Amino acid sequence: MFVTFEGGEGAGKSTQVKKLAAWCSRQGIPCLVTHEPGGTPLGQQLRSLLLESQISVDERAELLLYSADRAQHIGEVITPALKRGEIVLCDRFTDSTVAYQGYGRQLNLDWIEQLNTMATNGLAPDLTFWLNIPPEVGLARKNSQALDRLELSGIDFHRRIYAGFLALEEAYPTRIFRIDATQAPEQVFSQILEKFCSVYDSSLKA
Ligand code: TMP
Repeated sequence: MFVTFEGGEGAGKSTQVKKLAAWCSRQGIPCLVTHEPGGTPLGQQLRSLLLESQISVDERAELLLYSADRAQHIGEVITPALKRGEIVLCDRFTDSTVAYQGYGRQLNLDWIEQLNTMATNGLAPDLTFWLNIPPEVGLARKNSQALDRLELSGIDFHRRIYAGFLALEEAYPTRIFRIDATQAPEQVFSQILEKFCSVYDSSLKA
């Protein structure tokens, strides 16, 4: 089972990924936690180029670098783990490219779909949690931390990203499960766990 976690800045994805991984390990369910960008040695270098460096990155180059990160990640980490029968929990995946590069940067959505299909070899998540938080609230949560290149983009950019996640939810209603991420982390987690267990149980019966 392949599960992804998506959302704008400050939604608390990584906390929830960790909680679900800890729950799986207590149940003896083998699971692998990973993230994009940066889930491989190549990806770590791409991540620092994309987010931490001061060099300018053209928007199309940005799209291609996220796609390169994903192609490596699929081949080196995600597909092998799924083949071993592990549950893969991934912090960000293709929906982030649609939301950030497609809606945020306003790049051509058909290119993005084609690049996503190429990079993933057609692999799509079985379940996606969209941790939904208004961009103003999410960015305010991050304000006390050092902000990276994308977090420093203006509020309009982050509002377009939010619109992108809404459009994705409408396009993939059975895959994407929306959760109100303004709630306390424990409440968010109990909703994640309930949905995860129901999808996991039906996958065992299938
Ligand atoms: P995060 O790991 O802290 O969520 O940061 C990753 C950043 O990269 C975040 O600002 C979203 C951005 N991103 C894209 O713009 N496109 C993508 O395809 C992915 C995976 C992430």
